[in-house]
Amino acid sequence: MTTIPRPTETLARPGTAAGAGSARATASAAAAQPGTWEHAVVNRRPGYSLEAPFYTDPEFYRKDLEAVFLRTWIFAASVAEVPEPGDFVTLDVGRASVIIIRDDDEEIRAHHNVCRHRGARLLMEVSGSVGNIVCGYHQWTYSPEGDLLHAGVQAPGFDRKEFSLRPVHVRVVAGLIFVCLGAEAPGDIDEVAKRIGPYIAPHALERTTVAFQEDIVEVANWKLVMENNRECYHCEAGHPELTCTFFPTYGYRVEEIPARLMPAHDRYLAAEQLLSVNADRNGLLTEAIEELSGRPTGFRIQREALDGAGESYTKDGAAASKKLLGEFDTPVLGRLSLHVQPNTWFHFLGDHVVTFALVPLDVDRTLVRTTWLVHEDAVEGEDYDIPHMTEVWHQTNAQDAVLCERAQLGVSSPAYVPGPYAPHEYQVDEFIAWYLERLRDYGGLEGVAGAGGAGAAGAAAAGAVAGSGVGDSGAEAAS
Ligand code: FES
Ligand SMILES: [Fe+2]
Repeated sequence: MTTIPRPTETLARPGTAAGAGSARATASAAAAQPGTWEHAVVNRRPGYSLEAPFYTDPEFYRKDLEAVFLRTWIFAASVAEVPEPGDFVTLDVGRASVIIIRDDDEEIRAHHNVCRHRGARLLMEVSGSVGNIVCGYHQWTYSPEGDLLHAGVQAPGFDRKEFSLRPVHVRVVAGLIFVCLGAEAPGDIDEVAKRIGPYIAPHALERTTVAFQEDIVEVANWKLVMENNRECYHCEAGHPELTCTFFPTYGYRVEEIPARLMPAHDRYLAAEQLLSVNADRNGLLTEAIEELSGRPTGFRIQREALDGAGESYTKDGAAASKKLLGEFDTPVLGRLSLHVQPNTWFHFLGDHVVTFALVPLDVDRTLVRTTWLVHEDAVEGEDYDIPHMTEVWHQTNAQDAVLCERAQLGVSSPAYVPGPYAPHEYQVDEFIAWYLERLRDYGGLEGVAGAGGAGAAGAAAAGAVAGSGVGDSGAEAAS
């Protein structure tokens, strides 16, 4: 396991610390040396998959944690996972651990999971409920708000107020809880929230409950898991259950759709017409917003039709829960699909919601947590059946795990060389462009030219944008 510094040790950026000029010169000099991380970052070949060390090298993995997971907004849970005061979940990122807890005023709080006495980890469970947070070592006791309430007998002058839990940035966006472990959180979350919030809000996550949650560990680097999610090139052959409802024309421009997929495209166009009528009547936004690179909080959102009955992710497309979410008057609302980098994607349906959170565990292992949410009044066995509701994504996740493991094995081979992205994999390229932006920002490498003379990551981003555009047949990658 790679050694990962605590977040507070990772906050200094080469470009902002004292002596930034010399740090930048050092970074620039390192970028000129083949074999260094800096060289790999600035010399990525545009339009091609990454070099092997990005997926296999423990040192590169450590940089990923520092540059990405300890500095950007990451999805932790939905509000349905902490419905009552005192309910909590914990999230471990590298050696850091965060408590996300609903306080007595129903606010969602996030604290570092570290006791202010001698540092013991406070909550060991993945989720649960507490009155107060009590350290298991010497029983220092904190309120859900993070205030130190009891510390036993202490020296004269001891002031409990100085030993509150250290806060973690937290932001709830239409019921989705994001945290940022860095000292400074990217400010663009406000704008992202403003733009995606109105798409999600009608699904009323605050009135949902967790029907089922499933964790799997994929034997693959976290980026392979995210890359796999940004394209559906593999869906037609790889996901027989998913493609019962998810149109396999995903990501193709109309003129690129293979002849064998044209019947599916025709069904897509018809389903989109009906969706448009239903969405208008229910006040739902459908238009794609795609800003996967060029900003710290890269995202994509779009509502699109589903095949079959058009209602949900079941094999026939019919709703899996009888109790519709929010105030919807029909289940035929397709799928609202949201992707937020670095670690999450969602599908909001008329009858349920599926959230996906990935957490890197090691250079070649990634936790994927899938959570199904239903209306809070839905009754298991009457309104929904868990095996039926979860079947499609349970199978799809398992299939993706096999594909990602194969990818990890391949990129680990001495024979691996980066290969080209197809046009309908443009979102993978966008994700990689965003990732390299994060690394350049962290490493003080903005504007540093690669061996080809131009900033490789910048060229990659520019190429991706030029070659993309939200597909006419388009869709949000699902799987
Ligand atoms: S380390 Fe927590 S009470 Fe001592
Ligand atoms: Fe997939």
